[in-house]
Amino acid sequence: MKRFFLLILPVLIIILAGFAGITYFRDRAERLRMMDELARKVKALAESSESMVLTSLKTKNYTQLKKFAGSFEKRERIQGALIYETAGKKVIISSSIKELEAVLKQEAVKAAKVKKSSDSVLETAAGGIYSYAVPVIDNNKYVLGAVVIAHDASYIDKLSGEMWRLMALYMSLLALLLIIVILLLSRTLFIMPLIKLTEWFKKFQSGEINYSTQVKSGDEFEKLINEVEQVALSLRIAKKAANEEASIRTKKTEAWNDRRLKDLVKAKIGDNAFFVVSNREPYMHVTDNITGKVKCIVPVGGVVTALDPVMRASGGTWIAHGSGDKDREFVNSRDKLGVPPDNERYILKRVWLTKEEEDGYYYGFSNEGLWPLCHVTHTRPVFRREDWEMYIKANRKFADAVLEELPGGSPVVFIQDYHFTLLPHMIKEQRPDAVVVLFWHIPWPNPEIFSICPYYKEILKGMLACDIVGFHTQFHCNNFLDTANRLLENRIDTEKFSVVMNGHETFIRPFPISVGGYTHTEVEAAAVYAKEKLCPAYGLEGIKTGVGVDRIDYTKGIVERITALNRFFEKYPEQKGRFTFIQIGAPSRTNIKKYNELINEIDAEVDKINLAYGTENWKPFIYIKKHLSYSEILPFYTMADLCIVSSLHDGMNLVAKEFVSAKKDNDGVLILSSFAGASRELEEALIINPYSAEEFADAIYSGLEMDIDERKRRMESMREVVGEGNVYKWAGSIIDEIALITGKNQ
Ligand code: F6P
Repeated sequence: MKRFFLLILPVLIIILAGFAGITYFRDRAERLRMMDELARKVKALAESSESMVLTSLKTKNYTQLKKFAGSFEKRERIQGALIYETAGKKVIISSSIKELEAVLKQEAVKAAKVKKSSDSVLETAAGGIYSYAVPVIDNNKYVLGAVVIAHDASYIDKLSGEMWRLMALYMSLLALLLIIVILLLSRTLFIMPLIKLTEWFKKFQSGEINYSTQVKSGDEFEKLINEVEQVALSLRIAKKAANEEASIRTKKTEAWNDRRLKDLVKAKIGDNAFFVVSNREPYMHVTDNITGKVKCIVPVGGVVTALDPVMRASGGTWIAHGSGDKDREFVNSRDKLGVPPDNERYILKRVWLTKEEEDGYYYGFSNEGLWPLCHVTHTRPVFRREDWEMYIKANRKFADAVLEELPGGSPVVFIQDYHFTLLPHMIKEQRPDAVVVLFWHIPWPNPEIFSICPYYKEILKGMLACDIVGFHTQFHCNNFLDTANRLLENRIDTEKFSVVMNGHETFIRPFPISVGGYTHTEVEAAAVYAKEKLCPAYGLEGIKTGVGVDRIDYTKGIVERITALNRFFEKYPEQKGRFTFIQIGAPSRTNIKKYNELINEIDAEVDKINLAYGTENWKPFIYIKKHLSYSEILPFYTMADLCIVSSLHDGMNLVAKEFVSAKKDNDGVLILSSFAGASRELEEALIINPYSAEEFADAIYSGLEMDIDERKRRMESMREVVGEGNVYKWAGSIIDEIALITGKNQ
């Protein structure tokens, strides 16, 4: 549109200037002509009346003069005569110009005095009046008086005004006509061919059409079209070759790594057809509270930890809420940017939510409703109607953002978590060809508990529009199938582990999520840093350490952990001064009251334990209450003798797997809650019930006292699990499953 205005504006200015110039000169000439005509007419009238006025003044025949003055009164335009008698200073004037008597008399007196005719234009409220004064002189050169004829001249202005109006009308019509013509021409000549070419390029790239479908133009555009066709063809051929190569490579059995995942995505999904949707974005631009500068952070949480390496390998587009205060400054016109910012591997598309939407959808319905409902950690879920409405609205916003991006030819949309239960249905409604997978990162409760949610029907229907719904464990799959069976009308296929509703089949599958794993170089560098910097900084030389890394969330069992540590020092007092626990806690969801209360409770508990057992040189508990990056956390893992994961309920918990992955020397003990999904795989951890302070304290003691052989044996076994079942395998299994159900697995 802006471009169109730039094109049309000079044309309009030229037309306007042209018309204004022509009108001005025509108007001037016309005015001069009319004024001249009027002057001649008035002059002739004045001069022709001179002899009659002379005779009448001589004979003092005022009746004749009055008759003469009265003869003007019925005329259409204002006009009249004034006769001035020098001797008696008498004035006879037509009633039509009575108001002008004073000025006209002056004209008459002046003409009589100088014995010369003169004219002038008087400006009156009713418009211009043209007057012509003639002295009345007898044969003896004696001035008897003067006669003035006045005539309306305002019609000249009126005619001129009308001409300007008419010209303006013609000009507007012409301009309108020109705009329409230019618009039609530019559409036909430029816009349409470009739209056609863009559409063709998109379809050709997505494989919807082949090169026998050509774009024809038949003019100068032909050359550009030819070039674009060549580029498109080369790109497609290169892509096909890469996909075939990838497909060959995927047949070879090798360990799961980023390369193998990349090949699998290429072979089974193709390029630019993989879309991830999550609430939390992998990279946030925020203002640093201390320096006031903008920084890019990777938020804490399982989804980001797991999916960023997957997306780096597979490429594609990740659509997420742009929640950083500076996020808008780093996107292009379509709200996208390449990430990671220093090594762009995939596209991040940010979706903007209003504060009201974020409060209702994220803090309210998702985290005060569904989160406590599914975790069953004795925090009462809250379901407010307004939050539900915002949840629908936000899901719709994300649906629009996804639909805007989807190319033709069955793209894959991989949705994360409980924030988007309605999204699968919204996408499928518009794009039934899209393959929609939802992965549920948190636990799924039993049907009785799930039915507490007043909107459980809408949620289940939304989810059952998916082709696949994934959970971390078989146990949560079973709970989901049970819930779908008990709360909705549908058919459960126990052989295939699927739900058939309204003719659509949704497969329910366990995919245990994992981590990408640290490299040897990363671990070695972190170990050196820990030894040289962290230990002296925290006064930990010669002291055994434990570590916990969590978002500050009531499901993570942080308070229970401190209770167990209290019991540990109470029960095993000889451990005082020999062991310190380091808790890294990232404040999270701080707009929610429960989370704030928890932050205060933990602060108080930390003070208590340090007061109860701490000495001048030693602290039982070090609390680092802030967000640390992935690389900042690694030195703590390498340094720690044990790691505690004491979730009261957790879908998987990736901290457990991160710790194992960091222990390249196979030395370290993991204490793991039996209520975290990870405990199903990491069986060689010391499995605890976090609610039992006694059992928990004993596990800490066992971990610290465990002999080296057992420590190594257990860690080696856990490292095998994490090494083989890494996050590339997790994503690969989901893609294999997609290929299986869509028939792309040949
Ligand atoms: O595991 C559940 C989850 O919502 C993940 O999606 C995310 O990694 C984590 O909790 C963090 O939550 P939030 O994005 O609300 O900070």
